[in-house]
Amino acid sequence: MKLNKLFKVFAVVIVLVMMLAACKPAATEAPAATEAPVATEAPVATEAAKVYTYADMTVGFIQTGSEGGWRAANTASFKETAETLGLTLKFYDAQNKLENQVSAFRNFIADPEVNVIVLAALETTGWDDVLKEAQAAGKVVVIEDRRIDASSDLYATYIGADFALEGQNAGIEMCKLLEGSESKNVVELVGNVGSSAAKDRGTGFRETMGQCGITVTQSQTANWSATEGKDVMAAFLKADPNIQGVFAQNDEMGLGAALAIKEAGLVPGVDIKIITVDGTAGAFKGMIAGDLNTVLECNPLLAPQVYEAALKALNGEKLPAWIPSQEGIFYQADAEAIFPSRTY
Ligand code: AHR
Repeated sequence: MKLNKLFKVFAVVIVLVMMLAACKPAATEAPAATEAPVATEAPVATEAAKVYTYADMTVGFIQTGSEGGWRAANTASFKETAETLGLTLKFYDAQNKLENQVSAFRNFIADPEVNVIVLAALETTGWDDVLKEAQAAGKVVVIEDRRIDASSDLYATYIGADFALEGQNAGIEMCKLLEGSESKNVVELVGNVGSSAAKDRGTGFRETMGQCGITVTQSQTANWSATEGKDVMAAFLKADPNIQGVFAQNDEMGLGAALAIKEAGLVPGVDIKIITVDGTAGAFKGMIAGDLNTVLECNPLLAPQVYEAALKALNGEKLPAWIPSQEGIFYQADAEAIFPSRTY
């Protein structure tokens, strides 16, 4: 009897289950097994990420010094653009002393107002420690004008010229100037020897001068200076007057060399060809006077690019390791026409 009753109950249960299954929509796929929601804490409201503007930027700018026209234009670019954009600029002139640049770097790291540090490096080496300290302090670092020998992970970006290309172009242009000359002896006036500008321009020149058989017979630093350029050129002429060309790594040294050539009774730009780098007003006046033959541009007006990159970095944007500045080549024949449009 009991068994019979049990069987009847079982049969009723089966029928009921089958009726319920027929009412449920057909699942097209077995629903993915989902974890039962785990109870979490109520999300904590976080402040929206701050979007920096130029008004939030305080830039500590470590300049090399004030060695010539290019540097004056570079400094003016940073001061004038800071005013235009409404950012705060703390300017430091290192008087061309590396130790001053390193101590200024640490002062800006310690300055709670400074959130961006910009460096125009006197030398390529010696920056790793302060760059790591700046990174640990959460400061954005942008290298301007001269590249440095440090990992690009240690700074937001480098904005400056391709100095090696400037040197290569100088070699190519000197070949043009000395075409047909029996001898092709060139002397070189070098900037401060530890700087990337001096190192790379020298390397670049030597990479292309061989295209026409140029020989660099004498090379010496004149520290970017017109006075030293004149003294070193006078010494070159005394040591070996068989010189057909001068590669001066900036305008001031080339103009100084022109004075020494005149004092030796020769005609600069004619008896001895002169190529310089920068493109300052002095160089254009020198080309118009016939003293300089060709000038490779090195653009000092970098502040707009630097400040824009720094703001992007403040807002968390990853930047390319190097943003090259755009530059041209100026020839004596065109100098008079171009000069009025030049801004430095
Ligand atoms: O770094 C750029 C160089 O620095 C310029 O060619 C020179 O004039 C300045 O001293």
